[in-house]
Amino acid sequence: MVFKRNILITGGAGFIGSHVVRLFVNKYPDYRIINLDKLTYAGNLANLKDIEDKPNYKFVKADICEYEEMARVMSEYRIDGVIHLAAESHVDRSIKDPFTFARTNVMGTLSLLQAAKVYWESLPEKYEGKLFYHISTDEVYGALELTNPEGIESPFTTKASSGDHHLAFGTEFFLETTKYNPHSPYSASKASSDHFVRAYHDTYGMPTVVTNCSNNYGPYQFPEKLIPLFINNIRHGKPLPVYGKGENVRDWLFVEDHARAIDLIFHKGKVAETYNIGGFNEWKNIDLIRVIIKTVDRLLGNREGTSDHLITYVTDRAGHDLRYAIDSRKLQRELGWEPSLQFEEGIEKTVKWYLENEEWVDNITSGEYEKYYEEMYGER
Ligand code: NAD
Ligand code: DAU
Repeated sequence: MVFKRNILITGGAGFIGSHVVRLFVNKYPDYRIINLDKLTYAGNLANLKDIEDKPNYKFVKADICEYEEMARVMSEYRIDGVIHLAAESHVDRSIKDPFTFARTNVMGTLSLLQAAKVYWESLPEKYEGKLFYHISTDEVYGALELTNPEGIESPFTTKASSGDHHLAFGTEFFLETTKYNPHSPYSASKASSDHFVRAYHDTYGMPTVVTNCSNNYGPYQFPEKLIPLFINNIRHGKPLPVYGKGENVRDWLFVEDHARAIDLIFHKGKVAETYNIGGFNEWKNIDLIRVIIKTVDRLLGNREGTSDHLITYVTDRAGHDLRYAIDSRKLQRELGWEPSLQFEEGIEKTVKWYLENEEWVDNITSGEYEKYYEEMYGER
């Protein structure tokens, strides 16, 4: 079969990548989707069981840092679009092991960019009809001030905003023009990769797009991240390690709404632009944690309050950014993107998914990962 497009999605066995791969494979049967992933601890092909036999899906196990391999994949599959998600993504790991983050996020992105450049420049049509789409994070902008620790009525809203908690914890938001000011090795490595992507546009004329998204939540997220970790710990009656005072603020978006935004931007976004993605849905960690506890207890049939005692305040994350809040009005205005799910619906769906997919969680949290987790955080 001749496919209309050949799209390389990197990091497709991870959390967000698996949702993007699933969306593209199902929505575009005339595109061939090549999922390239190294399968690090965070990559899991079980995330894609439902689509692995589709005729327009192909998995390639490879490391984005291997330039020769990236060059081979680009030409063997005649790639005309890249959606680059592969990365080391966990801030706590970056604090312990920054080199791995620089290697994958910076050098890996560079090797992929160079492979795309060399292949596309070798074609008669060169960059026409091509796109290198780089997925980045709001963390590159640094941290916003927490000027209103109790929250004020947010001036902006989307369907993703919570129904009965519609707060902003400061008056500033991250815009596409906000100066980069990363604080963690993770965000510094992502910022560096963003700069390389823009440099390839400015220097070589490569068609690129960068998006910076807020915190995602939903099914298939590796249970070292706040929401799946806490759901799983509540299920096992284990302590819930709240960093610092639990006052840090994050802006939460359901992962499928991020995947929908990526689809829209890949097809309709303007070359060389940056788009911020987020749903104006800020939560103070401790308030979010209370919602999670309440939801898990209700769905497990426990009396309200049963798991409250699991909250355990622990030493704060080093360099812990106080507040993230994305202004996504450009994406709404220019491309008409709107999140589809309200926060309460998203959390209910997410908690249900983790409780109904215990085997997926248990497979990950046993063996090697458990050893790593204990070494890193001590027994909890
Ligand atoms: P994840 O850790 O769940 O998945 C990362 C994937 O990349 C894994 O499948 C892993 O095997 C793969 N990978 C890692 N190193 C690789 C390498 N050297 N070569 C090939 N594959 C490699 O991450 P995620 O949370 O799904 O994040 C995906 C992307 O989105 C990242 O670039 C991240 O910075 C960005 N992002 C994440 C969030 C969030 O809330 N999770 C928000 C905004 C942006
Ligand atoms: O903002 C986008 C970013 O969101 C992405 O770029 C990252 O890849 C993704 O991991 C996420 O980063 P955070 O550091 O915000 O996510 P995490 O789930 O690790 O933590 C969310 C908040 O909860 C943060 O303020 C730290 C806190 N936390 C986290 C863990 C794991 C705790 O209090 N206890 C915990 O055990």
